[in-house]
Amino acid sequence: MKTASVLMTALVAGVMSLASQAFAQTVHYPGGKSTFDGKCAVCHQAGGKGMDGLAPPLVEYPGKYAGAADGRAQLGHTVMYGMFGPIKVKEKSYNFKMPSFASLSDEEIADVLNYVVFDLNAQHGTAKPFDAAEVKAWRAAPLDQTAVHQRRDAVVKGLGL
Ligand code: HEC
Repeated sequence: MKTASVLMTALVAGVMSLASQAFAQTVHYPGGKSTFDGKCAVCHQAGGKGMDGLAPPLVEYPGKYAGAADGRAQLGHTVMYGMFGPIKVKEKSYNFKMPSFASLSDEEIADVLNYVVFDLNAQHGTAKPFDAAEVKAWRAAPLDQTAVHQRRDAVVKGLGL
């Protein structure tokens, strides 16, 4: 009996680890991934796992931001205009500069956000994918990096993060 249950546990663990590997390898937004790997991973690291003292992980907050209009705009503004000022993510502080990626096209920004939210965040509620039209609307009202930082405080409080 005991051997059977140990075997069963091992089997279940094996199946679960296979399932999580399959999950990790499924990329729904390959174009967004290639932008991310080429332009973002140098700071945020592959898979958006972040690096202490350099750039925050992107595997939890973006998924939570994406369900609310303010949060979506915050994601877009951060990528388009950058962000400057201290932030805290999961009790860790970051205070380095997120550069502006305004030179990316609306499609590229939508695609990289889709990769971050839907491929890197395990949870994204009922968020719908980003598209170029949504990005275009944000581009119409430029913000500086300090304003993006101030808005983040309000968004994080508003969402209770
Ligand atoms: C030079 C390093 C660097 C690069 C390159 C970079 N980032 Fe960032 N990113 C940061 C830093 C630093 C912060 C936090 C800024 C702060 O402390 O105000 C940040 C913040 C963010 C945030 C906000 C996270 C939050 O919790 O509010 C998002 C989203 C983000 N980056 C996405 C991206 C994407 C997408 C790219 C590529 C197009 C990218 N970053 C490229 C350094 C970088």
